[in-house]
Amino acid sequence: MAIVIKRPEEIEKMAAAGRLLAEVMEEVAAHVRPGVRTAFLDEVAREAILARGAKPAFLGYQGFPATICASVNEVVVHGIPDSRPLQEGDVLSIDLGLYYDGYAADMAKTFPVGRVSPEAERLIRVTEEAFWKGFDAARTGGRIGDISAAVQKHVEDAGFWVVREFVGHGIGRKFHEDPHVPNFGRPGTGPKLRPGMVLAIEPMVTHFPANVVILNDGWTASAGKGNLAAHYEHTVAITEEGPRILTGEV
Ligand code: MF3
Ligand code: CO
Repeated sequence: MAIVIKRPEEIEKMAAAGRLLAEVMEEVAAHVRPGVRTAFLDEVAREAILARGAKPAFLGYQGFPATICASVNEVVVHGIPDSRPLQEGDVLSIDLGLYYDGYAADMAKTFPVGRVSPEAERLIRVTEEAFWKGFDAARTGGRIGDISAAVQKHVEDAGFWVVREFVGHGIGRKFHEDPHVPNFGRPGTGPKLRPGMVLAIEPMVTHFPANVVILNDGWTASAGKGNLAAHYEHTVAITEEGPRILTGEV
């Protein structure tokens, strides 16, 4: 499948979708604390999305049963919300997507639940920083591999592990489009970055090297007990002037 280039009017529609998504993320984030069940966060997200005239993107996608992915501790991505209360010290990644006015927006963020260990805090911070390194590399004239290499370098310089089993992606009328945006790779490789491309850049990072496996529910992607994972994602447009966050400030 070819990479879809968006016209300026389409980018503005995606920015409108992204703004709504950022609002929803903020609303859900306000409820993250020890004792809260991820199934409740899922309800908050679904209602916040519907209240804005938007539609959950993940619910029903290849049979996914919820609005958010709620990935706790060693779960990297695609955790299914459930009735287990969050505990002080947990690390919770929330991944959220919606459709609005024909376009998708996708974002993820990792939250400490109450007080977490200094290593957990550092993992969350480094993952977010790695996103921004990738973002800064997302420039017209560069290549996808520039983003990948920037993310990987930041993660590995910090002594952490970049997940290989899942990658970022193009996004537009559908929330998964070409190209793949790996979080590892070499500068100067891969498709050229051009104005009008929209990418979900999403570093997934673990404390220790991991083989990520899918649990029996068919979704939960685990780095293995004793490991810890973080995820940070925004929908980003490539422009002549540089990268632009679409899932940004509300
Ligand atoms: N942000 C994730 C992704 O890009 C969300 C997919 S969750 C799913 O793959 F349930 F919809 F698959
Ligand atoms: Co994504």
